[in-house]
Amino acid sequence: MERTFLMIKPDGVQRGLIGEIMSRFERKGLKLVAAKFMVVSKELAESHYAEHKGKPFYEPLLTFITAGPSFAMVWQGDNVIALTRAMIGKTDAVDASPGTIRSDFAVHTNLNLIHGSDSPESAAREIANFFSPEQLVDYEHTIQRWI
Ligand code: GTP
Ligand code: MG
Repeated sequence: MERTFLMIKPDGVQRGLIGEIMSRFERKGLKLVAAKFMVVSKELAESHYAEHKGKPFYEPLLTFITAGPSFAMVWQGDNVIALTRAMIGKTDAVDASPGTIRSDFAVHTNLNLIHGSDSPESAAREIANFFSPEQLVDYEHTIQRWI
């Protein structure tokens, strides 16, 4: 069973979209494993977005992601990385398909509401970056066999 790291960014929190976004993942039948409401530190932001270091949008991205509270989560399910990336939609809201989170609620690329891991390697690194192993809650998700 696969896990992914998802984080509602400061714009999503300020827009009051935590419930709306979480509800989509719940209704999809995914299993919530961990959640944390937090202001991302500069150090954590740098390691989270290390792959973008040096790009023109890197510094504004760090400023944005640390500008207010975010809602960090771990979700689990078969193909959860690809499924949640599809539900989130393309980086730029203009390219995102209708029905995706970014198409439905975002306007600008730099205010695109939510982060989702893009590969199993990214997911493992990002989960370990934000959560300690004991914060990942192990429990039976009783409806799994119906999903
Ligand atoms: P995340 O889930 O946040 O990682 O988004 P993503 O995987 O869809 O995009 P990517 O990892 O390529 O970029 C990370 C973030 O940097 C994006 O979510 C955008 O907010 C921002 N970003 C990426 N490309 C651009 C760009 O060309 N211009 C600007 N202004 N921001 C960008
Ligand atoms: Mg990315």
